[in-house]
Amino acid sequence: MLNVDWVSERLGGRLITWLDQTDSTMEDAARLAEAGCSSGTVVGAELQTAGRGRHGRNWQSEKGAGLYFSVVMRVPIAAERLPIVTLAVGLAVAEAIAAASGLEVDLRWPNDVLVQERKVCGILIEQQGDALVCGVGVNVNQSSFPAEIEPLAISLRMATGKEIAREPLLADILGAIDRYSAILVEQGREAVLRLFLHASSYAAGRRVAVDQGGEILRGVTDGLDENGFLVLREDNGKRTLILAGGVRPA
Ligand code: BTN
Repeated sequence: MLNVDWVSERLGGRLITWLDQTDSTMEDAARLAEAGCSSGTVVGAELQTAGRGRHGRNWQSEKGAGLYFSVVMRVPIAAERLPIVTLAVGLAVAEAIAAASGLEVDLRWPNDVLVQERKVCGILIEQQGDALVCGVGVNVNQSSFPAEIEPLAISLRMATGKEIAREPLLADILGAIDRYSAILVEQGREAVLRLFLHASSYAAGRRVAVDQGGEILRGVTDGLDENGFLVLREDNGKRTLILAGGVRPA
């Protein structure tokens, strides 16, 4: 079981609930948000029986192998700017993972964290009343994945050949989420957009295929618009704004 007291103390007494097992920490955190918990409250679990990914996918949550948690965020930011919060969280997680592992880390818009072109962390952000629930799943010490996701997924242990301590990594991720949220609130969206463009090989100049509800668009990425959406220069010359994920290398 993760030593949650150590993490909480390292973050100045942060409220962190760590469960042995739950269906999904998204639901646990949503209940806490609804009950009015303070911003930064965290709920995590050793095992999720119904871990959720984006687009209704399942999130593999092998017991004790990864970090599966959700943070309640109350960010004073206009609704139309919310997509930029997801970019800020992706930047935070990528920075903490790079520091903990020494690996080169990439970000695939909007917020998949990649190592060696495979997914090491997924982020799911949902609105709950006036709060955001930000779910983070990091593949830390898995030694393999089920066959259907093996070509797409990687853990920090698989990439480094070493077991990674989860407590310092969790503390670093939570600290980085605080810092990037502050950058967004204090310096504005331009600062986050600039940092994302710099950190992500997918944000500009990358040949991709984008699944838009079954239709596949092909082209080259051309930066982000002012709200953090991805601009795609399609092969047919059209400039299309991509509002949701499904971006793959082509
Ligand atoms: C994705 O890339 O599709 C997002 C994956 C998000 C997974 C995390 S694990 C903790 C939290 N609880 C969930 O059920 N999902 C998120």
